[in-house]
Amino acid sequence: MIETMTQAQLWNGPAADAWLTMQSTLDQLFEPFETAMVDAVTEVGARHVLDIGCGTGATTIAIGRAVAGRGHATGADLSVPMIDLAKQRAGLCGVDARFIAGDASRITADAPFDMAVSRFGIMFFDEPVAAFARIRAMLLPDAPLTAFAWRSPGENPFMTCAERATAEMLPPLPPQQADAPGQFAFADPDRVRAILADAGWSHAVLTPFDAECTMPLAALDAYLLHMGRVGIVLRQLDDASRAAVLAQLRDAFASFVDGDCVSFTAACWRIDARA
Ligand SMILES: C[S@@+](CC[C@H](N)C(=O)[O-])C[C@H]1O[C@@H](n2cnc3c(N)ncnc32)[C@H](O)[C@@H]1O
Repeated sequence: MIETMTQAQLWNGPAADAWLTMQSTLDQLFEPFETAMVDAVTEVGARHVLDIGCGTGATTIAIGRAVAGRGHATGADLSVPMIDLAKQRAGLCGVDARFIAGDASRITADAPFDMAVSRFGIMFFDEPVAAFARIRAMLLPDAPLTAFAWRSPGENPFMTCAERATAEMLPPLPPQQADAPGQFAFADPDRVRAILADAGWSHAVLTPFDAECTMPLAALDAYLLHMGRVGIVLRQLDDASRAAVLAQLRDAFASFVDGDCVSFTAACWRIDARA
């Protein structure tokens, strides 16, 4: 089933279910990236910021707060359920954040932005050059981009642990092509530079960005049951099989547990470029 799903189906189906259910844990886990994005926005004094692949809206809301009084943040995302939650959260916080639903390669806005940002929202584009060209067209000339994407699977053992640990217990998952849309699609810095150059961006710089990510141990089972390709498969198993795989997964993740916390280093790129 996973191999036949398009990105639009995934992010409006099982991946959205996972991110909606795990929203507070994921926001806590990836908070260091939110902080770095808000710092980048503040540093350049951006006023109108486009948050690409904004998901359930944590970073859009944080940026909306940072630019309050001088501008606004706009989140764009392919996932209708995720962007619906983002809108709801922004409304509850009273933050002036706006949202655009749609594929980044086709979205439009009434007025240009003076910065684009993304936390892990740029690696899933079916047409990355078209998407980055569209994003660039929505920005003022020379406006900055600051985005975060994962480096290689080998540098991110936490993110690959579930698939390794279940390789012999679950039916084989389809092999992932390095260039196909997915979590590690931007691991190769040359590929990212080429995509940005082909889309008309200049001054692309990729800097390693390592962040310590933490969540409560109490959230680990839910994380394993929901996140990634293994999470999708686990949710389709009968109760007994799911419990057996989960037990194996808990053992495999033991090296990331410290007291009542789970923590790991996220090995990422900070990607900066100019429209
Ligand atoms: C890993 S999630 C990150 C969500 C959010 N940035 C965060 O950090 O919480 C990736 C996001 O990219 C969105 N996405 C995937 N493909 C997209 C596309 N072609 N255009 C716009 N958004 C897309 C997904 O719907 C999802 O919300």
